[in-house]
Amino acid sequence: MDNFKQYAPATQRNREHILEVLLKVLPSSGNILEIASGTGEHSLFFAPAFRPRQWIPSDPNPTARNSIEAWRQDSSINNIQSPLNINAANSNWGIEEKEHNITTIVNINMIHISPWSACLGLMEGAKRILPSKGILYLYGPYKQGGKHTAPSNESFDQSLRSQNLEWGVKNLEDVIKVAEERGLLFQEKVEMPANNLSVIFEKQ
Ligand SMILES: C[S@@+](CC[C@H](N)C(=O)[O-])C[C@H]1O[C@@H](n2cnc3c(N)ncnc32)[C@H](O)[C@@H]1O
Repeated sequence: MDNFKQYAPATQRNREHILEVLLKVLPSSGNILEIASGTGEHSLFFAPAFRPRQWIPSDPNPTARNSIEAWRQDSSINNIQSPLNINAANSNWGIEEKEHNITTIVNINMIHISPWSACLGLMEGAKRILPSKGILYLYGPYKQGGKHTAPSNESFDQSLRSQNLEWGVKNLEDVIKVAEERGLLFQEKVEMPANNLSVIFEKQ
């Protein structure tokens, strides 16, 4: 299984800061669905802090899912489920039923590395799945008032757009607008290292 494990060094740098926020803002019961889990290193680090609640990772990329599963099987953590194949842009994620008891959706570093349709799909999914008072947690870089908040974010944005014209750092106000149109009320933003933000929404 080790051959399937992927490594994203940034996860080592941001995971403790993210966990600190998650521990403050997540509901005290219910399971956690992670959209765009990537390598799975975050899932492995966060899940034990929420035992016995289930951490449900997902990613549309099969290489990522293999990595998540490799990390999961190699650990002794018993509250991480096998990764699901979820593309946020799809109108059904296959996990809508109430018995999954999902009260939180976590999405880290996806919105800028995907088309706007993925952000819209994420908000639609959160609207379908979360109960009242459920939490949507986002992490990543954002423009504010249409402007980059740091030169490093601006050059990152340019490099993203050179890879795919539909990618790029999104404007926080646009993300809040499409969330609130779907009954996800903006609660707070928390400044994070390396000019990233945690952005927290609560379902009405
Ligand atoms: C930069 S990685 C971040 C992974 C992980 N959350 C982290 O912080 O290390 C972006 C991830 O978003 C996933 N992704 C891209 N488009 C997506 C979509 N439409 N729905 C769900 N995940 C998507 C990719 O497969 C990739 O794993």
